[in-house]
Amino acid sequence: MTGLHTGHKIVNCDKFDRKGLWQSGAFGLDRMSVKPLVNGMETGMMTTAKEHYDALLAKHYTWMFGTSFDEKVEEQTALLARVGIGSPGIAVDLGCGSGFQTFALARLGAQSVLAVDTSQHLLDELSARIDGQDFTTVCTDMTAFPGVLTGHADTIVCMGDSLTHLASHSDVTSLIENVSNKLAVGGHFVISYRDLQSLPEGVDRFIPLQQSDNRIMTCFLEAAGDKVNVHDLIYVKSDGEWELQKSMYQKLVLPLNGLKDELSRSRLDVVFEETVRGFTVLCAKKMK
Ligand SMILES: C[S@@+](CC[C@H](N)C(=O)[O-])C[C@H]1O[C@@H](n2cnc3c(N)ncnc32)[C@H](O)[C@@H]1O
Repeated sequence: MTGLHTGHKIVNCDKFDRKGLWQSGAFGLDRMSVKPLVNGMETGMMTTAKEHYDALLAKHYTWMFGTSFDEKVEEQTALLARVGIGSPGIAVDLGCGSGFQTFALARLGAQSVLAVDTSQHLLDELSARIDGQDFTTVCTDMTAFPGVLTGHADTIVCMGDSLTHLASHSDVTSLIENVSNKLAVGGHFVISYRDLQSLPEGVDRFIPLQQSDNRIMTCFLEAAGDKVNVHDLIYVKSDGEWELQKSMYQKLVLPLNGLKDELSRSRLDVVFEETVRGFTVLCAKKMK
């Protein structure tokens, strides 16, 4: 690890690597000069989550929420406090993105936070906002986190749908077992995600996510067995011209009961559970 400044360590990528309004006709498609930029299926090759974020989503990710970074951190701080994370101790943020939960954990008094993600772009965004907090950013697959965490953690979070980004259901099983092994007794594991079991149908599969003067984002969801194909379509205006940037990747369908069984098998007892409009928050405690 190389130190950037006191309390912040960076590990470079060595391994692998959304609310808005859509007004139909908000701009005249017929009058647009659209240059497409495509990543993914045209080659017949499946795009990994890392490739999708690297090629398209990372640079639009924080904008996509249509709110300020601080408001998101405040929201996540309140959520973590509500699920019972009063004093996070040594914390790990798996699939941290630009850091909403990383900064929330710090606000709740975390001693240190290990922030893990496969997107160097998002880790760089997170790092640029550090103001004296003891964060370590590591660009690697979250399944590899036990190799970069010395000792045990008191709190491990995997929030904002990061869990469904894993490559396979067996990766979820082994991640949960690793989380349990790396948690101190009495420690907590917090997950927030959509289980994606029931998807919108027909034209409702086209979901408006966000828009501003020079960017408009729509997502198209397509069932694919025990996975969902997620197509992100983003029009970006530059020098008066609109460019369509598009890419797709897959998310895992993770039925809630199956996930709770996995937690229980790994000695993690669910102590908080809430599902609101399809979005589930779970907090599990390592009992022994
Ligand atoms: C939907 S975002 C959630 C980010 C953040 N937790 C939040 O709530 O905004 C999913 C994040 O997981 C990361 N990611 C996807 N697959 C990953 C993997 N296998 N290991 C680590 N990070 C991964 C992506 O780069 C992205 O930052």
